[in-house]
Amino acid sequence: MNLLTSQQITVEKIETICNLAFEIERNAKNFNSRLDGKILATLFFEPSTRTRFSFESAMQRLGGKILTLEQGASSSASKGETLADTARIMSAYADAVVIRHPQVGSAEEFAKYSQIPVINGGDGSNQHPTQALTDIFTIRKEKGRLDNLKIVFVGDIKHSRTVFALAQLLSMYPNNEFHFIAHNSCQISDEKLEILQKTGAKCFKSDVLDDILPNADVLYVTRTQKERFSSESEYEAVKDRYIITKEMVEKFADLVIMHPLPRIYEILPEVDDLPQAKYFQQARNAVFVRMAILLDILG
Ligand code: NCD
Repeated sequence: MNLLTSQQITVEKIETICNLAFEIERNAKNFNSRLDGKILATLFFEPSTRTRFSFESAMQRLGGKILTLEQGASSSASKGETLADTARIMSAYADAVVIRHPQVGSAEEFAKYSQIPVINGGDGSNQHPTQALTDIFTIRKEKGRLDNLKIVFVGDIKHSRTVFALAQLLSMYPNNEFHFIAHNSCQISDEKLEILQKTGAKCFKSDVLDDILPNADVLYVTRTQKERFSSESEYEAVKDRYIITKEMVEKFADLVIMHPLPRIYEILPEVDDLPQAKYFQQARNAVFVRMAILLDILG
């Protein structure tokens, strides 16, 4: 079984993964030999800290082993090998693979030729389903529900694969409202917006953050994705368009502030100590959720 996009995830699957992740968080020791003898390959053609290390930590905490490749530079991809051939080869060396690649659709392409389960760790600006599951878990933990939520996404909505992947999962639950706050050049595409609206989710676009903050349940902040801009000057023009300060958010006691990280300009460090700031907890949750995902796929 592959995990390539949020579309393929059902509400039942979200429940299974979240419940298992809660159980793992409570009692990790019970799981420490569940994947004995299994090998996970992590194939990263784009930088990563959390996704790769949390998968590797998750696999090792389950008793499994890892084969890892960072940046693709040391593999035959740098000699021009196709994803198809790499997939055929990895199938002989590991039991599952996590792939991150700058090209949209790369994980699906890889999966076509793979004999082992493929997990998409991010394909360009398209999808990041395991981050979406981590974010869903964090929201459920912090808010106690996945419906009737006002979620404010701010920053580089256009290029952020985590925003769309999460919004797709949340759109399966009733009465959720999405507010996309971005500069025009970073706003959600019509195509993605249409996909979300078809589910019945209420979607709003704006470039003003202040008005919506008092009513928000979750503030999901994203980095301006420098590597996906066509020119440096376009990036420079918008990179610090939205900056979350302590003063802006401290008065909203029930607000949950999230960020997939890395954070660059968009949340000042003074926010980190507020009880509303959950982004480091979110990154810790990634290990429990990825342990649950690996058990679901390989267990
Ligand atoms: C994100 C990603 O790679 O899409 N990070 C992550 O996986 N936690 C967000 C980002 O790079 O800005």
